[in-house]
Amino acid sequence: MKAKISPSMMCADFGRLEDEIRILEKAGVDYLHIDVMDGHFVPNFAIGPDLTRSIRRLTDIPLDIHLMVERPENYIDLFEPRLGDIVSVHQEATVHLERTLQIIKAAGAKTGVAVNPATPAIMIKPVIDEADVVLVMTVNPGFAGQKLVPSTLSKIREVKEMIQESCASAEIEVDGNVSFENAFKMLAAGADIFVAGTSSIFNADMDKLEAAYKLKQILSV
Ligand code: DX5
Ligand code: ZN
Repeated sequence: MKAKISPSMMCADFGRLEDEIRILEKAGVDYLHIDVMDGHFVPNFAIGPDLTRSIRRLTDIPLDIHLMVERPENYIDLFEPRLGDIVSVHQEATVHLERTLQIIKAAGAKTGVAVNPATPAIMIKPVIDEADVVLVMTVNPGFAGQKLVPSTLSKIREVKEMIQESCASAEIEVDGNVSFENAFKMLAAGADIFVAGTSSIFNADMDKLEAAYKLKQILSV
């Protein structure tokens, strides 16, 4: 499977949103990662439905909507998911995980199940056949610029094995401290989709296009 890149839009400069998106289009990224935070599930606030709509108006790049909210089943429609988008919900955020995946599917998007660093991979086994994407959080969700939680590398491997053993087809997405160095390790562990934040494309010391090309080179895409 070809590795895919999903830049984290919460790390973009919202004052220059259109320019930022044009650079990402030029770089040929696969998705735009939309971090939605409710101040409950995670101790921070981030992108909501209005800004998501503004981003949508500026580009045809599919959206990769990461709902870090409690009871995500109540908010999926607000983000107007489209064919080709991914909508990910956290295993820890709903007692109705299977039902929530059905709601995403009915809305026409790809289903994603996200897991925090402290959640064992086994917790998502019952829904592995229904997930198009497993989002392995490689930092604790809520803030950009954190350091990789080392145990998450072996979790990527575990999830990969689980997918293979179940003859399922889910792709593995990694989110948090996807630096050039870590991206290589995550790729080797079995990751398919890479969220690029302040550790790569939005690193303040680097040109965004150059950083995107460097990440692509590391991932051989
Ligand atoms: C963490 C966010 C990530 C983060 C990734 O909750 O979901 O998207 O911004 O970027 P860095 O590279 O800063 O970890
Ligand atoms: Zn995210």
